[in-house]
Amino acid sequence: MTSFKQDVITGLAADAKYLSSRYFYDEIGDQIFQEIMAMPDYYLTRAEEEIFQLRKEDIFRALNFKTPFKLVELGAGDGLKTKILLRSFIEEKADFQYLPIDISSHVLDELAESLITELPQLEVIPMAMEYFEALEHLQNISNDPKLVLFLGSNIGNFPQGKAAGFLSSLAAKLQKGDKLLLGVDLKKEPAKILQAYSDQTGITARFNLNILARINRELGADFDLQNFEHYASYNPQSGECRSYLICRKAQEVHLEGVAQSIHFEEYESIHTEISKKYSPAELHRLAAETGFKVIEKFYDSKKQFSDVLLEKR
Ligand code: AVJ
Repeated sequence: MTSFKQDVITGLAADAKYLSSRYFYDEIGDQIFQEIMAMPDYYLTRAEEEIFQLRKEDIFRALNFKTPFKLVELGAGDGLKTKILLRSFIEEKADFQYLPIDISSHVLDELAESLITELPQLEVIPMAMEYFEALEHLQNISNDPKLVLFLGSNIGNFPQGKAAGFLSSLAAKLQKGDKLLLGVDLKKEPAKILQAYSDQTGITARFNLNILARINRELGADFDLQNFEHYASYNPQSGECRSYLICRKAQEVHLEGVAQSIHFEEYESIHTEISKKYSPAELHRLAAETGFKVIEKFYDSKKQFSDVLLEKR
């Protein structure tokens, strides 16, 4: 059985049903996420882009790398924002290779292809692997210092406590002096956050519902998507924005090859995603307790988002 199928069965058999947001990203999910990033309500993308446009030279200077280095990106995506940094580093005559890491080789192929035409002088080494596997491999083949990019508030997908575990594991794969540029969405007016995760145009709803459509497509399930509705909530104390799929009508769902059907009561929900927001102080503590020191925090003009440059101690 695939781990996707196993995870779906486990999550939907739980008392409080859940599915992991990592399963949003099949080819269709990748496409819908592109649409999300283009929505005015989804301020995160514009804010991080502004940080890079305004501060790219400062970011490069703060790295203080004097020798060739490796620029490693975790979860590369379409690289739209990263290209701002890549272009700027090249203008600064930096000596580096770009190593985008993503489990989706489809995403990596598209990125590498676009870079051949847009930045032909850049050496790109795509790695279609799990993050830690790729970092381990890299540690074995090179002693160059590294800048790791983990952008776009991807760290927010970890629930309370799990982000620290992830960063500690990441630190363990780095050498002293290596850097991490971490893109984090900040706590702000709750209404603004909610709007980013429940837009009127229904794009986010489509993104969330795609996980059920994917289960239908890949696991031969019979979810009736008409019965499910997207719902987002924000807890201003934990900073967790949570997305759910609410079942509007009782139904039985079957998975191909699984005898036991899954029962949904009316208004039963499936928790699908956490997008956690941080305060600057929380971020500082998180870095300190996971083996990093804060070199510099960069903000957009409205202080909605932060890219923090960390150094492995
Ligand atoms: C790609 C995980 C950063 O949590 O903001 C966007 C995904 N979910 N809208 C986020 C997402 C709903 C996004 N990340």
